[in-house]
Amino acid sequence: MDRNLALEFVRITEAAAIAAARFMGRGDEKAADQAAVDAMRKAFDSVRINGTVVIGEGERDEAPMLYIGEKVGSTASDAPAVDIALDPLEGTTICAKGAYGSIAVIAVAERGNFLHAPDTYMDKIAVGPDAKGVVSLDKSAEENISAVAKALNKSVSEVTVVVLDRPRHEDLIARIRKMGARVFLIGDGDVSGAIATGWGESGIDLLLGVGGAPEGVISAAAMKCLGGDFQGRLIFRNDDERARARKMGVQDLDRIYKLEELAKGDVMFVASGVTDGPLLKGIKFLGGHHAKSHSIVMRSKTGTIRTISANHVLSKKMM
Ligand code: FBP
Repeated sequence: MDRNLALEFVRITEAAAIAAARFMGRGDEKAADQAAVDAMRKAFDSVRINGTVVIGEGERDEAPMLYIGEKVGSTASDAPAVDIALDPLEGTTICAKGAYGSIAVIAVAERGNFLHAPDTYMDKIAVGPDAKGVVSLDKSAEENISAVAKALNKSVSEVTVVVLDRPRHEDLIARIRKMGARVFLIGDGDVSGAIATGWGESGIDLLLGVGGAPEGVISAAAMKCLGGDFQGRLIFRNDDERARARKMGVQDLDRIYKLEELAKGDVMFVASGVTDGPLLKGIKFLGGHHAKSHSIVMRSKTGTIRTISANHVLSKKMM
């Protein structure tokens, strides 16, 4: 994949982040999400790719834009064919509340290289590079925490596990606490939670628990770029979800997907902060119709992680 595309993709997440940030703290999740979708869709038009959305806003009948299967990019016949996994606003509630950690995100792979995950839930585990290979969804939470402690040369009481704060995780949280490990509860945004496990001094060592399956594929792309590990197992709430998964080509519904099965080959991951968060600062609207954005671009091929801050003259961009 052409590395120069990376900067093009940053423009896309920047546009979505700026649009969503206008709705920060206004209590309107739908409006924030719609603004991010509209801006991201428009920004794709100027990028020279033959893109297909494989993880998106939903299926065509429920999402007017950036739906699964939608073609994005300039779609010139000789432009590179890529698959896109996107979440124009990861953490809609966070943004609507003006809280910590919403981002605009896209991940890119060569055609056919992302798992076409249905919009169900996924049991997930993520660790950074130093604990790669020692965890598995086959093991219990206790076994995984012990393995991470050993790999990081920490005592269990020094291990920090990030978990979505949901009633479904009551038992998991109780077990982690019983072991004496530390729990970092997040209200939303488990893509950032996964990335934090491989992010320098975030202080987070392990992500456990069930979140959205589409977010799982995006997280896997990020963890691949960071040199960390990620596994996911689809979780279905009813027969309808099982049928939809089968329709999307999932044969073994209980399968544990390894990182390489979720995001094959070379991938890129790009994100821009909407509100301030553990990885990125959010959009700041400056005087004189200027705005400042903060983004990361990562490529699995080289492992390079770029952080890009940009000043935007909004009056010239009609944003
Ligand atoms: P949205 O951006 O779509 O609101 O997703 C936020 C999120 O917290 C994800 O990060 C996570 O994977 C998922 O929702 C968890 O789903 P639920 O809120 O149903 O537990």
